[in-house]
Amino acid sequence: MSEKLELLRQKREKIEMAGGQKRIDKQHQSGKLTARERMNVFFDEGTFVELDAFVKHRCTNFGMDKVDAPAEGVITGYGKVDGRLVYAFAQDFTVVGGSLGEMHAKKMAKIMDLAMKMGAPVVGLNDSGGARIQEAVDALAGYGEIFYKNTIASGVIPQISAIMGPCAGGAVYSPALTDFIFMVDKTSQMFITGPQVIKTVTGEEVSAEELGGAMTHNSVSGVAHFISSNDEACLLEIRKLLSYLPSNNMEMAPVFEADDINRVSDELNDIVPADSNKPYDMKKIITSIVDFGDFFEVQPYFAKNIVTGFARINGQSVGIIGNQPMVMAGCLDINASDKASRFIRTCDCFNVPILSFVDVPGFLPGASQELGGIIRHGAKMLYAYSEATVPKVTIITRKAYGGSYLAMCSKDLGADMVFAWPTAEIAVMGPQGAANIIFKDEIKNSEDPAATRAEKIKEYTDEFATPYKAAERGFVDDVIEPAHSVIRLAEAFDMLLSKREQRPSKKHGNVPL
Ligand code: HXC
Repeated sequence: MSEKLELLRQKREKIEMAGGQKRIDKQHQSGKLTARERMNVFFDEGTFVELDAFVKHRCTNFGMDKVDAPAEGVITGYGKVDGRLVYAFAQDFTVVGGSLGEMHAKKMAKIMDLAMKMGAPVVGLNDSGGARIQEAVDALAGYGEIFYKNTIASGVIPQISAIMGPCAGGAVYSPALTDFIFMVDKTSQMFITGPQVIKTVTGEEVSAEELGGAMTHNSVSGVAHFISSNDEACLLEIRKLLSYLPSNNMEMAPVFEADDINRVSDELNDIVPADSNKPYDMKKIITSIVDFGDFFEVQPYFAKNIVTGFARINGQSVGIIGNQPMVMAGCLDINASDKASRFIRTCDCFNVPILSFVDVPGFLPGASQELGGIIRHGAKMLYAYSEATVPKVTIITRKAYGGSYLAMCSKDLGADMVFAWPTAEIAVMGPQGAANIIFKDEIKNSEDPAATRAEKIKEYTDEFATPYKAAERGFVDDVIEPAHSVIRLAEAFDMLLSKREQRPSKKHGNVPL
């Protein structure tokens, strides 16, 4: 027995040395943790249970028969995050570059199957050169299986990806099929084809960071949702994100200690400027209202004209979508529509109620938007809000014009409760545009067209740029004092806790893409 135990210990020790001290040192020198270190930081202390440490590859091509790949280049297992069951895999860049071969993929697939059976989230820590080139079609089949399982699990259990090194090929498509992507600044990149291939094929010269760095994907492409300064910060942020989500689509997110819901936020009465063309920061309204001012923003660097993120009201997780008047006057454009629609659908999958803050002058006019397909992108918002059956509460702080009023979860798109502040302006279009059209002749024929125009704009503003026309028809459930927003929202979400909405059965809808 002692010999057998010794053999077991030796084997484990070898596996734990991963790709060897030299490669581990290189990983550390480049500012990255190793795969096992990442698992230990991520899970509650002492809860990580590793599976399949002894799995080996079966490849004999290109000298692979002589390559020992400890744990097959990926650490897999389960553990607890804030006491809740979570599955995870961490690709080990020190072992054949974390590349994915047949058995590496089988380890990941096993974790995904277990997570589906148990109804628990899967977190993937990606640090991989993609398909293991030596394994040819076996590696491709491995990725195919992962993509398939990602898709089947979509909307059933939360799937979260972190990009923690240079990830290429399949190593980026699997994350793209998951719900959220985190990236670590300076040490992670994502691309389908790297700079060298691009140079060979198109002649373009671009650095890896410009092409697929964390800020590129957080601010330009919109592929990633979060950027962290280092591995540790990234892993802690993933834990925080999980706290807003249920373990699966049959559960609700955990409820936390609530803030005082009876607090009166007097500062909200003065936050909207008297001049309706002046901007203000929607995030200030959000942080005044949500529990303990804690707003966990999603995609803060992409399409800043719309704000998305998680918070809690009365201890209950809510997904927040808000127009941002500070950026492009809060207009909806292609990127904002994509960002918001994706977020709405994520909340709806996982039973997270939706709270929308509206101050939107319209869809962004312009040839580039029209040619870029604003019609199909904007349609996603109409679709996503209409499709969502979670509790939906809308609060109109100022402008709510035309199609964009509808697209920001109006009553007609299924909002369960719509509140308006007295500063709300709900109409087909802004007073200037409206007066120019409906009083065109009167203005033209008057002795002083400028004065008449000003008079007509005022007339329209007083009559229509208010919340009361919409409230008269019941499109707004109540006009409320801004300072009382917290209690009114808390009451609304509490009332909506038992919401059940049945839709006709179908295979799946055809969301505009
Ligand atoms: C086998 C790989 C590998 C791969 C890296 N390695 N990628 N081995 N298959 N895909 C090995 C290297 O040979 C090296 O081994 C070790 O991992 C570390 O790699 P380096 O190149 O030294 O590291 P670095 O300079 O940091 O560059 C990282 C990298 C680069 C940018 C990821 O390795 C790279 O470009 N790899 C290939 C990327 C790629 O084209 N993959 C296939 C994508 S196709 P040693 O022994 O020297 O330490 C794909 C198919 C699915 O994924 C597509 C689905 C749509």
